Amino acid sequence: MKKIHIILFGVGNVGSALINQILEAREQLKNKSKLEINIPVIVNSSSAFYEEKCVRPAWRTDFKYFGVPYTVDTVLKYIKKEAYKNVIIVDATASKEFVQNYSTFIKNGYDIVASNKSANTLSNVFYNNLRKQLKKNKTEFLYETNVGAGLPIIQTLQRLHASGEKVTKVRGVFSGSLSYIFNQFSQQNKMFDSLLAEAGIKGLTERDPRIDLSGNDVAEKLLVLARELHMKKELSDVNIESLVPKHLNGRSSVSHFKDNLSDLNLEFDDLKDELKPDEVLRHIGELDVITGSLEVKLVKEKTNTAFGSLKNAEASFEIYTESHGQFPIVIQGAAAGTGVAARGILADLTKLAEKYNR
Ligand SMILES: NC(=O)c1ccc[n+]([C@@H]2O[C@H](COP(=O)([O-])OP(=O)(O)OC[C@H]3O[C@@H](n4cnc5c(N)ncnc54)[C@H](OP(=O)(O)O)[C@@H]3O)[C@@H](O)[C@H]2O)c1
Repeated sequence: MKKIHIILFGVGNVGSALINQILEAREQLKNKSKLEINIPVIVNSSSAFYEEKCVRPAWRTDFKYFGVPYTVDTVLKYIKKEAYKNVIIVDATASKEFVQNYSTFIKNGYDIVASNKSANTLSNVFYNNLRKQLKKNKTEFLYETNVGAGLPIIQTLQRLHASGEKVTKVRGVFSGSLSYIFNQFSQQNKMFDSLLAEAGIKGLTERDPRIDLSGNDVAEKLLVLARELHMKKELSDVNIESLVPKHLNGRSSVSHFKDNLSDLNLEFDDLKDELKPDEVLRHIGELDVITGSLEVKLVKEKTNTAFGSLKNAEASFEIYTESHGQFPIVIQGAAAGTGVAARGILADLTKLAEKYNR
């Protein structure tokens, strides 16, 4: 039986879903794949909970009552004391500060799996240093869930690149929340503000919907893909068309924004009026390897295209390559929700497990 030990940082939406999925899949993985996944340490921003072998289904209660204050150093000492083999650090935080610990993890020989995009979206200097350290210490860093949650976007780009294929352009409907809003808006007779509120009720948007509308999250995902293609770009190089009206931007409170949501209607109604009968609005990220441009923008798409026919909160990615010419590789599917993100992390974990001898 091969055993892996997960040290999980971040027990929010994604981290919790991951624990539950692992606990559910554990017996099956043991029996069918001869793989035992243990989660001996779970950590949030203030507490750590240690369980010698693996947390149990009542982990939330255990964490609440037996979680103790910690430092990353005390967690590392614990891992060493227990002499765990095949240790994988999972970063399910949304913290830019936390990724500063990666170099310590790598120096200790631990592999990392992250849904947190920060390590791939900070400066190029940080990005390149991280890769150098990974190479030097023969450790791995997998982050398929950074873009498209569980959809295989990053691994596809990596494989194309490794095979010498020239990727020329990538376009994508990256955001589940904006996918949902524009899929409904273009074809239904509903006002933009009511759809935005509806997406919030469905748990698709952030508590402050301006985070979704600003396009920054899409810009970060676009940057992750651009760097996979060896484009030396920074976040500031992405041209972002924000959908937040200037008078309601970050300087006003969330409640002020929500009280004035109807201010968004006029502009979006005008855009809808300009559409031809076979067109819909879509919010996309687009990178052009040839010109070096990175853009986050609202576009008109024909209804018979992959983007034009999206449903619900689906994400869709078009990868254009030299060999495929004008016909892109299309990867599409549900990319919103913590379940798919956790499943994507689990896929990265089992992929890493394959490289361990025992
Ligand atoms: N939600 C999705 O569908 C989805 C999909 C793909 C990728 N992601 C990415 O996955 C990550 C997690 O998302 P989420 O929705 O689960 O976020 P979340 O609910 O806000 O949870 C974040 C967790 O990280 C913990 N945390 C924050 N700073 C920390 C630190 N320095 N050290 C240890 N723990 C820390 C938080 O602890 P406290 O509660 O104590 O603050 C919390 O447990 C984000 O980077 C997100 O972008 C999310």
